[in-house]
Amino acid sequence: MHDERLAIDGGKPVATGPFPSPWLGPAAMGEEEAEAVAAVVRSQCLFRFLDHANSNCTQLENLFKEMTGCDYALAVGGGTAALICGLVGIGVGDGDEVIVPGFTYIASASAVLICGAVPVIAEIDESFTIDPEDIEKKITPRTKAVMPVHMRGIPCDMDRILDVARRRNLLVIEDCAQACGGRYKGRALGSLGDVGCFSLQQYKIITAGEGGMVVTRNREVFERAAIRHDSAMCFWNPADTTVAPFPGENCRMNEMEGALGCVQFGRMESILARTRALRRRIHEGIADSPGIQPHRSPDPDGDCGISVAILLESGERAKRFALALNAEGIPAASIYDRGIPDRHIYCYWEYVMEKRSWDAHGRPWTSPLHDPSRQYHPDMCPRTLDILGRTIIISLAQTFEDQHAEWIIQGIRKVAGALR
Ligand SMILES: Cc1ncc(COP(=O)(O)O)c(C=O)c1O
Repeated sequence: MHDERLAIDGGKPVATGPFPSPWLGPAAMGEEEAEAVAAVVRSQCLFRFLDHANSNCTQLENLFKEMTGCDYALAVGGGTAALICGLVGIGVGDGDEVIVPGFTYIASASAVLICGAVPVIAEIDESFTIDPEDIEKKITPRTKAVMPVHMRGIPCDMDRILDVARRRNLLVIEDCAQACGGRYKGRALGSLGDVGCFSLQQYKIITAGEGGMVVTRNREVFERAAIRHDSAMCFWNPADTTVAPFPGENCRMNEMEGALGCVQFGRMESILARTRALRRRIHEGIADSPGIQPHRSPDPDGDCGISVAILLESGERAKRFALALNAEGIPAASIYDRGIPDRHIYCYWEYVMEKRSWDAHGRPWTSPLHDPSRQYHPDMCPRTLDILGRTIIISLAQTFEDQHAEWIIQGIRKVAGALR
């Protein structure tokens, strides 16, 4: 029987031991990865030659094609590079607007700006992903595309997003940086829109340290993305290329990243099987706790299961709830805590809020093709801030034992009961 007094009030904490770190891919790394990288070094061939059939990067592309059912995949140097190549792939550029959610890593908005377009920020809903209704409200004659971001491994409500896109003639670029291996109604994330973009950076479900992947069913989108990712690629195989050359920037993946990515890819399903089981168990265990609303995913089965999020009735309560859980030994945090700048929340995207540029003329903001009256301010998406302010989140990893899930359940039940 637990001491029902909260640990924050001097009671006995629920967790009697530490939690493992919430690393996903990195925590699964072992000798196989070390051997794969060592083999590349020994081969003295670290560059990704497109015509090498046994290139690690080519093999990784094939794995992503298989996973997503897309005909084309392009390995690149990072998730942001994947977004930039994907945006260029679908033809986004100067004068275009791309609708992005107010809850995503700043890289999503930055990629849009790097392409010469501007981001238009839409509200999220209680799924923590972009609100399809708000997408519709944010459309202007300049809107070219929408970027659903499957944040924290949670699939966006793709049926409704694709419906808006079809009706309003928008292209769809999926940001799957945090959701590799996730699905929506049985279909792989990344395969539902016109182009899908992944990251293999350290914090992701599988990692190569850095790295990214672009997937698409459309050959022209692929060719444009490929041209963007290599300044001379279009001259290597001109006979195969249908798109006329244009300038690119080298953001290729190297063979060590490709090798790491392949080994990590092989670990993905077991990582996700474990995180999904943990999330399911925790959701069952807290379902009838008073005063809390466990997060409902647009597709609980396809959700990557890497986080448990709980909505509370006020920001104040969320903060108290998180502190009380921390005292119980549970690593939880409220997402939006005024004062803690988190670049996953649009109001902390300073260079967007202030329309700053790398360019002395202030491009792309000042391009004559853009709407000069477009303004940004930190409270422009109040619903997003309200939802994030009322939410606490616990990150899950495959390294968590059943005991950790039980502590999370007991901790949440105890705090919910006491703070009722
Ligand atoms: C949602 C999202 N989009 C894009 C990125 C950018 O990926 P990368 O860091 O690999 O450039 C990240 C992560 O870093 C991310 O979380």
